[in-house]
Amino acid sequence: MQRALRPASVLRGDISVPGDKSISHRAVMLGAIANGVTEITGFLQAADPISTVNCMRRLGVEIDAGESRIIIHGKGLHSLMKPDAMLDAGNSGTTMRLLSGILAGQKFPTMISGDKYLVKRPMKRIVEPLRQMGADVRSRAEGTAPLEFYPAPTGLHAIRYELPIPSAQVKSAILLAGLFAEGTTQVVETTPSRDHTERMLGLTPVQDGGVTVISVVGGTERAAVPFAVPGDPSSAAFFIVAALVAKDAEIVVRSIGLNPTRIGFLDVLTRMGGAITIDNERVVGGERIGDVVVKSSVLKNQGPLSGGIIANIIDEIPVLAVAGAFAEGVFEVRDARDLRAKECDRIAAVCHNLRALGITVEEYEDGFAFEPKRIVSSTVFESFGDHRIAMAFGVAALALQEESVMNDADCVDISFPPFWELLHSLIH
Ligand code: S3P
Repeated sequence: MQRALRPASVLRGDISVPGDKSISHRAVMLGAIANGVTEITGFLQAADPISTVNCMRRLGVEIDAGESRIIIHGKGLHSLMKPDAMLDAGNSGTTMRLLSGILAGQKFPTMISGDKYLVKRPMKRIVEPLRQMGADVRSRAEGTAPLEFYPAPTGLHAIRYELPIPSAQVKSAILLAGLFAEGTTQVVETTPSRDHTERMLGLTPVQDGGVTVISVVGGTERAAVPFAVPGDPSSAAFFIVAALVAKDAEIVVRSIGLNPTRIGFLDVLTRMGGAITIDNERVVGGERIGDVVVKSSVLKNQGPLSGGIIANIIDEIPVLAVAGAFAEGVFEVRDARDLRAKECDRIAAVCHNLRALGITVEEYEDGFAFEPKRIVSSTVFESFGDHRIAMAFGVAALALQEESVMNDADCVDISFPPFWELLHSLIH
């Protein structure tokens, strides 16, 4: 659906954002293969994590879903059941890639697919290491879904795998498969990616000559533990940028996750001159959380965003580009080729919408660069069916002079169903 987006120069409010998407997926998967009952509070009720819940139900797991509290009746490592139909990951890459690690270790065949966007996304990155572990996984010739899993002829065995690209999804798929493998599976990371899986599994990464090694011992049954899901920093990022670029804003976003592998965007925005402070910092369920206070600021683009920081800010690059569009100087992103393999080609999508703002953009294979000059007073944005593109440029629309339009705005339901209402609740 198309959505009209009115400009707003005064933003005030004290809000919370829904639960972390990455942690919500993992809590459901880990609860399903634990022994005992897992209580998840703060669960993200949005299309993506609901896809994980539905897949787990098909695998025979009983799940009682309340508003934001859900109960998983864990089946232990070896009692998932053969589903009666193909598993549907919807739009969710996290569901497909992480669940593949679990499916590879089952003694029954399964098939998993997804929507028109997900079936185009690369799956070779998980299929290859899973095959190295002995899994019988089949994909389309292009290395895409549907994926078919057959019982591994001689069971899964441990591998030591150096990640060729920084990816928490690939790392997690291997660690989850490692739970079903014989021996100790090791994942070696040269660039850190989000570490929720290892934290939630209680694993201790070891630093070894500039790389991080995460080891998981196969066959170990785990007892259920409760999970308290913090507010999603990636969702908070949209409101933080909205407040920074508004003429007159002061907002508080409460209880957001401050895991260091996720909040590189706060450093980027602070370096740009953003007035951002963190209050009430505390640790809940092993994750640092806090309240973020943001005031309107005059932003200045700094040097190129490239190298090691990219994995940390990968989901926030679209909204950082929006901050860059309302700042002085050159904004540049490099080394972010994987952005082309997200829910849509996010490099192309960001460049398209920046151009719709009247900005001349240089597009590279692995990024983009621009220096904002004169911004249009209103425009038509395209979400390309991608939730983060819709939300990022929904924020840009607030900072224009007249009403704009977002095409296909409903895709925010993937990660943040009340996004538009919450954004409008800040407008004064
Ligand atoms: C995620 C990892 C990232 C991120 C995605 C969620 C996760 O993907 O972009 O939104 O929960 O592990 P990659 O592992 O492909 O970088």
